[in-house]
Amino acid sequence: MNNQDKIEKLINLRVEAKLGGGEKRIEAQHTKGKMTARERITLMLDEGSFEEYDMFVTHRCDNFGIEKTKFLGDGVVTGQGTIDGRVVYIYAQDFTVFGGSLSETYALKICKVMDMAMKVGAPVIGINDSGGARIQEGVTALAGYAEIFQRNIMASGVIPQISAVFGPCAGGAVYSPALTDFILMTKDTSYMFVTGPKVVKTVTGEVVTDEQLGGASVHGSKSGVTHFVAENEEEGILLIRKLLSYLPQNNLEDAPLVPCKDPINRLEDSLNTVIPENPNKPYDVKDVIHSIVDENEFFEVHRNYAQNIVIGFARFDGASTGIVANQPNYLAGVLDINASRKAARFVRFCDAFNIPIVTFVDVPGFLPGTTQEYGGIITHGAKLLYAYGEATVPKVTIILRKAYGGAYCVMSSKHLRGDVNYSWPSGEIAVMGPKGAIEVLQSKKIAAIEDDAEREAFIAKAEADYKDKFANPYNAARYGYIDDIIEPRNTRFRIIRALQSLTTKKVLNLPKKHSNLPL
Ligand code: HXC
Repeated sequence: MNNQDKIEKLINLRVEAKLGGGEKRIEAQHTKGKMTARERITLMLDEGSFEEYDMFVTHRCDNFGIEKTKFLGDGVVTGQGTIDGRVVYIYAQDFTVFGGSLSETYALKICKVMDMAMKVGAPVIGINDSGGARIQEGVTALAGYAEIFQRNIMASGVIPQISAVFGPCAGGAVYSPALTDFILMTKDTSYMFVTGPKVVKTVTGEVVTDEQLGGASVHGSKSGVTHFVAENEEEGILLIRKLLSYLPQNNLEDAPLVPCKDPINRLEDSLNTVIPENPNKPYDVKDVIHSIVDENEFFEVHRNYAQNIVIGFARFDGASTGIVANQPNYLAGVLDINASRKAARFVRFCDAFNIPIVTFVDVPGFLPGTTQEYGGIITHGAKLLYAYGEATVPKVTIILRKAYGGAYCVMSSKHLRGDVNYSWPSGEIAVMGPKGAIEVLQSKKIAAIEDDAEREAFIAKAEADYKDKFANPYNAARYGYIDDIIEPRNTRFRIIRALQSLTTKKVLNLPKKHSNLPL
């Protein structure tokens, strides 16, 4: 074979590798409304930036006749490229090859890009579309999964890890995405479950479809497993590219600064009237967020899960910031198990990756009841408390209205090392709301009043007195727990100034092996 023949051979092998499981299987993939692994990578990365590794890897299994069938690349496409000019490592499972099932060599390919990403300090994106462990391989496939899990754990908090689920992701395979920072699923074409519908029927007798058990809408709203639900793969890929624009490359860097055309001192008059006069009336906290952040652009995470708390990314004067806000429009913004878990993980993500946190508070307290108590609200609520207290990134807090009870402490209060804590004049900071407080404090007196009208008048007066004393931010300001009471329309400017003053903040927690977060 002369040199020209050798080059020809290389070109032919590349063509073969790029076909994955072959034309027929590619067609079947398209018929299902799904892209191939390579098409997904091409769309995800900047044009022409993909450098593929391990295209010539094949499996080493000789069970059940599989040794007669080998595909170049062995069912996963791996490599490196750029998104908006910044390096990312990527792997995409190729369903056209043995249903995207994971073999020993396939796992080694994924491990290689993960190791490279950690060495270089760049994010990893994993695109999942697989029938799980390659059944013919047995334990070497299981070992491969575990090797990936171990790397997910080592990379956690060091480089951002993002999982796109664009097809099946079942059994133990779900745990790699679960260990990453963000999961995105597509409607109707993806599902995730630990055991599929057949096993569910055998074990519990329950009859469910893939979609009902682990579809995108289930995980986007009920379980909270997925952070994003996309209409289709194209939208999902754009969402991931956008998400990365808010993140640094690794835990030693800051997120990129984006030139900001939105004036930092922009006054937003609508905020002066956004809080209803009636304290029991809701409003949409997203209106507040949108009107304050750069270009009114808020990138929401976990939009349909635990909607009583809102989380996501935005920018202030071009700098990426994590936003956490109680949502009065949903369950009155109460903190419950799901809201606590949702916000705690987000706060910890921001802290791990040097993203400052701005918290908007309007919370009537923790949700009472047996469902919450039996479900462990004590432990789950403690997660959010812990996350805020542990976080050393700049923390700016704005109390919009209610900040009651334990929830006052939890929501980035001064006492949990909030750096700059402001309140609007509508702030109400107390151990509990007036109704509950009067029931506790005056129960004997109330019971002793026989006349209904007299009793009502007594309660109304007691509640009004309580409100006069506590339903304002001045008590807290008197103690220095609130640094200033600000005019709502000036909130954007005050936040930006606070964040600017905190860019050089340095706080170190005591050295330890690791914390013992209440899990
Ligand atoms: C080997 C597999 C495979 C697997 C699919 N294929 N899954 N080969 N190992 N795990 C092959 C099929 O034999 C078929 O090959 C091709 O991929 C396409 O699969 P189809 O079944 O035709 O596709 P579809 O109808 O779309 O169904 C997809 C599917 C189904 C739902 C994923 O294939 C399926 O149920 N597969 C098994 C899933 C599973 O139980 N995996 C193990 C989970 S346990 P041909 O040649 O016929 O086209 C696990 C443990 C991990 O993963 C533990 C980690 C700790």
